Amino acid sequence: MTEIFVKDNLLHLRNDHISYIIYILEGGIPAHLYFGKRIESINPAAVLRHYELPADGRWWPHNCALDHTPHEYPAHGLGDLREGALSVRQKDGTRSVDLRVTGWEVVDGKLGIPGLPATFGDNAKTLLLHLKDELIGLTATLSYTLFDDVAGVMRHTELHNASDADLYIERAYSLCLELPDSRYDLITLSGKWAREREMSRRPLVMGEQGVSSLRGATSLFTSNMLFLARPETTEDRGEAIGAALVYSGNFTASVHVDANRCSRVFLGLNGVDFSWKLAPGETFHTPEAVTVYSDAGLDGMSAQFHRICADHLVRGKYAKAPRPILLNNWEATYFGFNEEKLLKIARTAADVGVELFVLDDGWFGHRDDDTTSLGDWYVDTKKLPNGLKHLTDQVHAMGLKFGLWFEPEMVSPKSDLYEKHPDWAIHIDGRMPIQQRQQLTLDMSREDVQDYVYECVASHLREDGIDYVKWDMNRHFSNIGSALLPADQQKELPHRYMLGLYRVLEKLVNEFPDVLFESCSSGGGRFDMGMLHYMPQTWTSDNTDALCRCRIQYSTSLVFPPFAMGSHVSAVPNHQTGRITPIQTRGNVAMSGCFGYELDLNTLSAEDLEKVRAQVKRIKELRTTLLYGDFHRLVNPYEGQDTAWITVSKDKREAVFMFVRAMNQPATPPVLVKLRGLDENKIYTIRETGERYSGSEMMHLGLSVHPGWGDAASVSWTLEAE
Ligand code: GLA
Repeated sequence: MTEIFVKDNLLHLRNDHISYIIYILEGGIPAHLYFGKRIESINPAAVLRHYELPADGRWWPHNCALDHTPHEYPAHGLGDLREGALSVRQKDGTRSVDLRVTGWEVVDGKLGIPGLPATFGDNAKTLLLHLKDELIGLTATLSYTLFDDVAGVMRHTELHNASDADLYIERAYSLCLELPDSRYDLITLSGKWAREREMSRRPLVMGEQGVSSLRGATSLFTSNMLFLARPETTEDRGEAIGAALVYSGNFTASVHVDANRCSRVFLGLNGVDFSWKLAPGETFHTPEAVTVYSDAGLDGMSAQFHRICADHLVRGKYAKAPRPILLNNWEATYFGFNEEKLLKIARTAADVGVELFVLDDGWFGHRDDDTTSLGDWYVDTKKLPNGLKHLTDQVHAMGLKFGLWFEPEMVSPKSDLYEKHPDWAIHIDGRMPIQQRQQLTLDMSREDVQDYVYECVASHLREDGIDYVKWDMNRHFSNIGSALLPADQQKELPHRYMLGLYRVLEKLVNEFPDVLFESCSSGGGRFDMGMLHYMPQTWTSDNTDALCRCRIQYSTSLVFPPFAMGSHVSAVPNHQTGRITPIQTRGNVAMSGCFGYELDLNTLSAEDLEKVRAQVKRIKELRTTLLYGDFHRLVNPYEGQDTAWITVSKDKREAVFMFVRAMNQPATPPVLVKLRGLDENKIYTIRETGERYSGSEMMHLGLSVHPGWGDAASVSWTLEAE
């Protein structure tokens, strides 16, 4: 149960798992005292002493005391000379802000954030801490929510202009978290196309460190989250803190370690390409930041994130439903298909038990390659002379659902749309438009563009029997300028773009509640908690090589549960790496996510096709556990040749264990892999081998595994409790 209690200027938010404590200093500055495992009480004087502040709380006369005070929401430039969370330009051009507490309220449940994705849930309490800068008439409300079932806090800030002059927000982070030491490793996820979210772990050092994006999306290159783990923290032991932004655009995630080795964590909108004009009476909301705590290692931290995703972020019919096993034609045909070819692929897919056929890029305009037609979302009658509906009807008649690819935020310079509306692309007059993949980005900050994009997708969903949408986004921002925004608001474009996109997505998911949406951005380039609020699954990577996927899915699972990750079996040699891996291994890796195929099954040998049939059957039996069970990482592919993980059903009666060895070595004995999440007192039978073990034996001694002969060998075992 969550409680928020207030005594002697101390605001203590806590549930069964964590405490979060704020102390209002004399004068009304909100200081941060504690975030971590639940505690019963705190001695503010001791915490203040740690920060070299007078223990009696009379900090104000102390020279530049604010410069080493732990703040809830600091602004740079008055008493605190460090980087702040907030900066607001005023009519005289100065930017200092001095927010003082004016009051607080406690409300039941969790409040939404207008226009932005946010966590939700009734089993929560929210503290609204009200502050005001009297001189400039800016008010701020800091919102903190604790859900009963999550060891974490959800935060965002609301800023309101109560003055009669324009204010310009130049920085407004979602999270500032002060930590009393810096004995942590910083873990971030960075990569590139086909190598998304590679884990890097390094000790915090004095100064500033972190990751950020200015690309208009979270991006392939890094993720809008960071993790702090004690040096001794492992998967199953030790303290870890994780913070992730519920947002999909430009961001900053950083840690600043000061001379006293105290750490200040920031997460929020990137201030470089951001500014927001706040006219008198207007309000601005930052995106939400989710911060979790674990004293049970990284595994414990991920469990908190997974719970948030499952129970407080993903919405709609598919939030908890079995996801259809799909077949996507992209790697099977690329742009070279016609109706007959597609139906042939779909027929074999239906025959082996696949449930959804997805038509990827190339069905619209004159799109025979990636040089044209984005924006012209009408069917290419050269390829599909009978239209889309005719195709979807036939696919439906096979017992399959039908899915369709869109890249709605984009326009090809070679398109009817661009000819008609060149101004709709993000551009700067007089500068050569920089293309990526021969395309430009539509200016989603404009309402006319939003309405066009919405209608393009909605009309197909209304008329063509579409059950699934793959929503792609394949380039980043350049020439950042909008034809409509005045000069003093051009820096609003990246955030307005996101608000525009979210507006369209919100309308679509509400109007088409039966459609399953999958987010994609050249693979996993927009794998974030923002998109997950609208689309319950994300294409994890264009890289479907089983060995690469071990790493990508392993690190993606730091925040995202299996049901969020699109993962498919593709052809060999793999189109991204040229590697040949057994079909069993491709299936074993892909089944820990939203399973599918990315190939023409007609090209498989009869033997492999039978294996596919068996895979599909097995996944249908196990998918509730595979998608919605508790996922635990067991062996880290970043540290060697092996990968292992397990998904355990909520009632602990069923589990699926997977082990892959990238490179075989002769004369290697089996390895003992310690499992997690099982019931210690239950006896489990491994369905595939018939062996019986107690949960405690497999968790404490380990399960003996040898993946067998050849490279990329693997096992996937079903554990059934007796
Ligand atoms: C992106 C996606 C792929 C595919 C292609 C189509 O790269 O990540 O899965 O849809 O676009 O052009």
